[in-house]
Amino acid sequence: MENLLLNLSYLIASVGFIIGLKMLGSPKTARKGNLIAAFGMTLAILATIFIYPSTAHITVSTFIYILIFIAIAIGTAIGWGIAVKVEMTKMPELVSFFNGMGGATAALIGLMEFHHNVGNPGKIFMIIAGLVIGSISFSGSMIAWGKLSGKLRKPIRLPQYNILNTILALAIIGFGAYIIISGISNLLYIYLLFALALIYGIMFVLPIGGADMPVVISLLNSFTGLAAAFGGFLYNNMAMLTGGILVGSAGTILTIAMTKAMNRSLSAVIFGAFGEGSQAAGSGSKIQGSIKEAGPSDAAILLNYANKVIIVPGYGLAVAQAQHVLHELEELLSKKGIDVKYAIHPVAGRMPGHMNVLLAEANVDYDKLVDMDDINNEFKNTDVVLVVGANDVVNPAAKNDPSSPIYGMPILNVEDAKNIIVNKRSMKPGYAGIENELFYNPKTSMLFGDAKAALTKVVQELKGM
Ligand code: TAP
Repeated sequence: MENLLLNLSYLIASVGFIIGLKMLGSPKTARKGNLIAAFGMTLAILATIFIYPSTAHITVSTFIYILIFIAIAIGTAIGWGIAVKVEMTKMPELVSFFNGMGGATAALIGLMEFHHNVGNPGKIFMIIAGLVIGSISFSGSMIAWGKLSGKLRKPIRLPQYNILNTILALAIIGFGAYIIISGISNLLYIYLLFALALIYGIMFVLPIGGADMPVVISLLNSFTGLAAAFGGFLYNNMAMLTGGILVGSAGTILTIAMTKAMNRSLSAVIFGAFGEGSQAAGSGSKIQGSIKEAGPSDAAILLNYANKVIIVPGYGLAVAQAQHVLHELEELLSKKGIDVKYAIHPVAGRMPGHMNVLLAEANVDYDKLVDMDDINNEFKNTDVVLVVGANDVVNPAAKNDPSSPIYGMPILNVEDAKNIIVNKRSMKPGYAGIENELFYNPKTSMLFGDAKAALTKVVQELKGM
């Protein structure tokens, strides 16, 4: 009976994860999807705490139950506290930090379970795999968190770091295999393996720089999923297995999608030097030419007489929290009979789906958001493109300059439009640290200022027309 109840709980939990993940695919359903998946996780945790012990003939004392719930309460309070306070722009750091905690948990399982399973090579394999992958994910995520929060901005590369890292990875695999095959029971070996895996995680992420960080976080996310899946095998826990596999495969799919959007191969992300190159280019190359400045009234006039307008949001929109006034501007133009759409670049902002979430927060009609591949052909028939706080994702160097560190990254073809208005605060570069020739294009007018303040003025001007 208890077995049936346990399996039923895990089945419902797993279905909750799958439905939740599917619903995360659209901003319309994402909130509900998150709640459904959270319900599944809560059910799986409660079933493990209350039903699993009797199916495994384990007696859990009241004291242990109290400890478990104290730990859950502390973890929940900290997680909740951080999550409600975090700014949207700091979300990737938070994801990285939480992912690191998942990796650490998988590693701790390995450390705890090793001596219980000595003599059972199958289980020791699961333990070693979960421990190594979880540890790499933990230390790597902590370094990624440090980099994204600006504490470790520069990539650090030891001489021949690729060779060093490969040797370390092979040593970890060899040492892990030795522990499994030899059936050794000395705990020192497992702690040494743990330390080596932690060092590898640090060495793996430290050299990776700049714009490749989101890809690395997604990759580490898939590592954590894999480590959890090994835990699922170890405990024969179906919910843990399904959850781990879903995180692992979703992380892998996202990693591939992001590398595609940035036109980077995964090996180039891991072994390449994007961050270094971009910083060098940022400090070196200078574009010749002059820029044309426009005030809010010039921008309003251009927009007012357009038939078709495309808005390109970027990271600066999130910084300025200008999504509400941008929506107001879009509604104002639509009321005047102007066709308005938003062009969404897959890596605009600082996290996957950043622009979608930001605009959904301002209740922008989801049908007005058009993905890069679907809108790129429309720019040539567009009267005005309004770029708000975007830079790298509209930089033509990605198409025209083979020496540029972003060369090959697909971009939005804004330079094809008849007129371009770019709103940002200064001529400073974006995330990749490079200049943008779009700003010097004769069709471009620079509307300088914080996005919220500048767009508010444009809206006022438009209301008077
Ligand atoms: P960026 O290239 O980073 O440019 C953002 C621009 O916004 C800056 O040039 C900045 O110029 C401007 N800005 C900042 N605050 C502003 C404000 N308050 N008002 C108006 N403008 C403001 O952004 P993007 O075009 O969205 O490209 C994203 C970049 O981040 C890509 O290189 C991408 O690879 C990388 N990245 C993406 C992700 C994901 S997954 N989306 C994660 C990490 C990194 P001023 O300082 O002159 O105002």
